[in-house]
Amino acid sequence: MSRAAAIETPLEHGRREDTGGVQLSGIRKSFGSLDIIHGIDLSIPEGAFTVFVGPSGCGKSTLLRMIAGLEEVTDGLIAIKGRDVTDLDPSDRGIAMVFQSYALYPHMSVRDNLAFGLKMANTPKEEIERRVAAASAILKTDHLLDRRPGQLSGGQRQRVAIGRAIVRKPDVFLFDEPLSNLDAELRVSMRIEIARLHRELGNTMIYVTHDQTEAMTLADGIVVLRDGRIEQVGSPREIYENPANSFVAGFIGSPRMNLLKAKRVGRQSLTLAGAMIEAPFPTDIDDAEEEITLGIRPEHLTVGHETLAGRSLAATVDFSEYLGGTQYLYCQLADGQAVTVEYRSSVPVRSADPIVLSWSPQMTHMFNGDGMRIKPTH
Ligand SMILES: Nc1ncnc2c1ncn2[C@@H]1O[C@H](COP(=O)(O)OP(=O)(O)OP(=O)(O)O)[C@@H](O)[C@H]1O
Ligand SMILES: [Mg+2]
Repeated sequence: MSRAAAIETPLEHGRREDTGGVQLSGIRKSFGSLDIIHGIDLSIPEGAFTVFVGPSGCGKSTLLRMIAGLEEVTDGLIAIKGRDVTDLDPSDRGIAMVFQSYALYPHMSVRDNLAFGLKMANTPKEEIERRVAAASAILKTDHLLDRRPGQLSGGQRQRVAIGRAIVRKPDVFLFDEPLSNLDAELRVSMRIEIARLHRELGNTMIYVTHDQTEAMTLADGIVVLRDGRIEQVGSPREIYENPANSFVAGFIGSPRMNLLKAKRVGRQSLTLAGAMIEAPFPTDIDDAEEEITLGIRPEHLTVGHETLAGRSLAATVDFSEYLGGTQYLYCQLADGQAVTVEYRSSVPVRSADPIVLSWSPQMTHMFNGDGMRIKPTH
């Protein structure tokens, strides 16, 4: 079984699992009368790279800070390596956290920044030197050891911040948006370095981001959060291919999935933008028309001029974005609904061009009026 597949939820409240990873049971957090986290149950397997992703303000940092011990829980239990750490100090939890704002000491050299935590813990001098040298080798910061943070680039500073976590040899690494201060190119290269670090060290890592590309590329398991609740837990592929609801469907994937207002008519069909189209699968519904949302990803739409019965719709191109390898077409259906298309052909498409969009019904998703995924009934 893959590590990602081992991510399971929910855990029964109060149950202690003797596993090596991180267990959250019934975690709640309120600031005064404001309820922020509404009861999170999650089991993160040892060694897995788990990403918390969700929109700004959904509680990702709060949840991570509670795992770190920087924030008290209002209710619930946190276990790390099978040990209840809910009431322990951050320094006793076996964790190390890397923040977005590096938090380096500006007056100390890189070497002293790396060594500082170990010195405070009265680690013997030779051991400190050994660990600093090992971390510096992993992160390729040897040539920077005598500089101060002010003499480093953003990416180098972030590397030192990660090095400071590595020297502590934590059971669990916690990252809170560590790359969001970096420019786009550096983000990509640091992302790859973090993936490599995980492969080399094999530690449990929990990584917070609102960047869904980081979530998709780094994670064994993704936890999608919204308003202090878990919307879905799964591997990147599970979440991409089988989003549990329209929120997850729209959040993961770029450009986002087209979520189109449609109606179910009979067992096999839908109406969308005035046309009759095929449902992704037959469903047991009565004759009443039911409002649903049909989800189609931009890359699953094909542009042509030929109408395929039940599998295509007429559209007009509003405008397009040329990205070199691909092109995004922002289109409108006959009823005015907007549709984004990922277009890879070299045949030019101009604004105001009438086109036909076609797709394979198997690549579409249906969500009910509450936004929940509709699954085949057989
Ligand atoms: N100390 C605090 N007192 C009151 N409210 C707080 C406090 N800290 C956080 N919050 C609120 O809790 C909610 C979750 O905040 P949190 O920082 O966890 O969000 P986030 O998901 O990390 O967002 P972002 O992506 O913007 O970093 C927000 O509505 C925030 O305003
Ligand atoms: Mg945050």
